[in-house]
Amino acid sequence: MCGIVGYVGDTKTKDVLLAGLARLEYRGYDSAGIAVTTAAGEVDVRKRSGKLARLAQLLEDDPIHPGTTGIGHTRWATHGGPTDENAHPHLSEDGRVALIHNGIIENFAQLREQLGEASFKSETDTEVVAVLLGSEVKKQGDLEAAFRTVVTQLEGTFTLLATSADEPGKVVSARHHSPLVVGIGDGENFLGSDIAAFVEYTRRAVAIDDDNIAVITADEVRVTDFAGNPLPFEEFEIAWDPAAADKGGWPSFMAKEISEQPEAVANTIRGRITPEGVVIPELSELGDEFLQGIERIVVIACGTAAYAGMIGRYAIEEWARIPVEIELSHEFRYRNPIVSEQTLVISISQSGETMDTMMAVKYAKERGAKTISVCNTQSATIPRESDAAIYTHAGPEVSVASTKAFLAQVVALQLFGLHLGRVRGSLDSEAAKRAIAQLETLPEKVSEAVATHDDITQLAKWMSDTRSVLFLGRHVGFPVALEGALKLKEITYIHAEGFAAGELKHGPIALIDHGQPVFVLVPSPRTSPVMHSKVVSNIQEIRARGARVISIVEKGDTATLPYSDDVIRLPLADPMFEPLLQVIPLQWFALELCQAKGLDVDQPRNLAKSVTVE
Ligand code: M6R
Repeated sequence: MCGIVGYVGDTKTKDVLLAGLARLEYRGYDSAGIAVTTAAGEVDVRKRSGKLARLAQLLEDDPIHPGTTGIGHTRWATHGGPTDENAHPHLSEDGRVALIHNGIIENFAQLREQLGEASFKSETDTEVVAVLLGSEVKKQGDLEAAFRTVVTQLEGTFTLLATSADEPGKVVSARHHSPLVVGIGDGENFLGSDIAAFVEYTRRAVAIDDDNIAVITADEVRVTDFAGNPLPFEEFEIAWDPAAADKGGWPSFMAKEISEQPEAVANTIRGRITPEGVVIPELSELGDEFLQGIERIVVIACGTAAYAGMIGRYAIEEWARIPVEIELSHEFRYRNPIVSEQTLVISISQSGETMDTMMAVKYAKERGAKTISVCNTQSATIPRESDAAIYTHAGPEVSVASTKAFLAQVVALQLFGLHLGRVRGSLDSEAAKRAIAQLETLPEKVSEAVATHDDITQLAKWMSDTRSVLFLGRHVGFPVALEGALKLKEITYIHAEGFAAGELKHGPIALIDHGQPVFVLVPSPRTSPVMHSKVVSNIQEIRARGARVISIVEKGDTATLPYSDDVIRLPLADPMFEPLLQVIPLQWFALELCQAKGLDVDQPRNLAKSVTVE
C-alpha cells in the first residue's frame, strides 16, 4: 500500500516522479504528492488529496521549482483521513527535509511525545518521522548519519525516502518489512516501491533487503545496513515490457487484463512442459527426495490468491495424493499451526509483497517448514524469502481487481501438482499425459471464454439496479463462486456471496426471493454426471423460490435450459480445468456492472492493489 518513487538525475525530475506515480497509483489513491530539492538549496512540495489527476492539475496551476532530485508518493490512508494535510511528502519543522513513507510507525505516539514542543500539521505517523529526521539533521549536519539514527528508533513497518535541501543530488531510503527497489540508470538513478515506478526508464534493478539503507545520487548507488556498514548488492534485469503496463487503448486495465488471459496462461505453461512431462527447474533447490517425503501441504494466501489456492488443492490432492490445507495468511500464524520439516508451505501472491502472506511465510520457516512461493512479480519479497519460487508469467497486473494473475496462479499450482504426482509415483503416465494435453489446449479455450463478453454485457445492462447477487458452485466450482462474488463486491460495491451449492439448503436458501439473481456454475454432464444432476436439482430448488438463474454450462449441456433465465456456454474441459473458464464470464460481469453503474473499474474505493500493512 502506498506507492513510492525517488529520483536523482537531470531536470526531468517532476516528469519522472509523475510518471512513476501514475504507474504506482494502484497501490493507493487517497492523495498524491511530490517534493523536489533544487540546486538553490530548497525543498519545494506540492500535494493534494484525491487521485493523481488532482496533483497534476495543481502542478499546472502552481508549477513546482525545477530540480534534479525528488521524491513522490501516492497514499492509501492509515493514520489520518485522505486530506491535503495528511498527504505525503511531510516536512521537517524548518521545511528543509522532506520524507515519504509506506507502512505503519507503531511507536509514533511515543516519538511524538519525545519531540515535545514540535508542531505538527497532520494526523499522520509519518510526519513524526519527518520532524525527528529534521531535528537529527540539524544536530548531526549530515542526512545519512541522521537517517541512520532515526530508522533504528522506529517500530512497525516502513519504506522511507528522504531528501534534504542541504544535500541536493541525494535521496536516502530504508526498508523494514515494506518493499523497496532501486533502478540503475545512466547518469540517473531511481527508487520505487516496485519496478513499475521506473520500468520505462531502465531495465536494471536491485531489490533491497530488509533492514538495509539505499542511497542514490545521479552516478552512484550505495547499500548499507542500519549501522552504515557497506553491503554488496546484485542487479537483476527487469523482464517486463514497459508497454505491458499501459492500457494500450483499452477502457480500463481490468478489461485489458481479462483479455490477456490466454497469453497469461500460455506464458505460465511455456517451457514447463517437455516430452518427459512437467518440469519445474525452480524446484531443484528442494530436491526430489524432499518432495517425495512431504507429509502435508499448507497453502497460504489472501483474497483472490486464496481462491486460486482452493482450486489448486483439488489438483494437488488428486494427482499427488497429499493432504492439502488452505488457510488465509493472516489467520495462519495466530493459531499455533502444526508445521514440521515434512510440511511444505506454498504461498500464493501476485504482488509478492502482501504483508499478511509474508509474515505467514516467515512464521512457517521459523517452524522448520520448507516454503515455495507462487508469485507474479520478479524479485519481490515473498519469493526472495522462500526456499523456491514458481513464477507465474502473467505480466504486470495493474487493475486492483485481480484477473489474469488468478488464472496464472491456478495453472502454476496445477503444473506443480502434476510434477509432484510424477515425482511421488502417484500419477500414472497416461493420466499425466491427459492432463498435460488439457493444459496445452487451455489458452485456446480461455480465448473462447473471453469471447463471452458480448453476452455478459447485455446481462449486466439489464441488471444495473441489482442490489444483491449470489453465486453457487460445487467441488472446483465452489471457489469460482467465491471469486465471482469477490470480484463483484470489490468493484461494484453491491452485496454478493458465493456458496457451495450443497450448503444452500442448510441456511442460505432463505435469501432467495422473487427476482434474486443467482449465477450457477454447472459441472460437465460428460465428466461429472452425478455432480451435474445435483446442481441441476439445486437450480430447480432456487428457481421454485423465484430466483433469476444464470447458468454457466459447457457447450451442448441443455439440461438447465428449462430452468434458466440466461445461459452462458463455455468450451469443454476436464473438471480440474473448468474453473479457469468459468471464472471469466464472472470477471466480465463484475466489470460491466461496474461500468453500468458509472464506477471506477480499476480503482475501487477503499482498496489498494498491494496490501503491505497487516
Ligand atoms: O498480491 P496478492 O496476490 O498477495 O494479493 C492478495 C489479495 O489482496 C488480492 O488477491 C485481492 O483479493 C484482489 N484485489 C482481488 O481482486
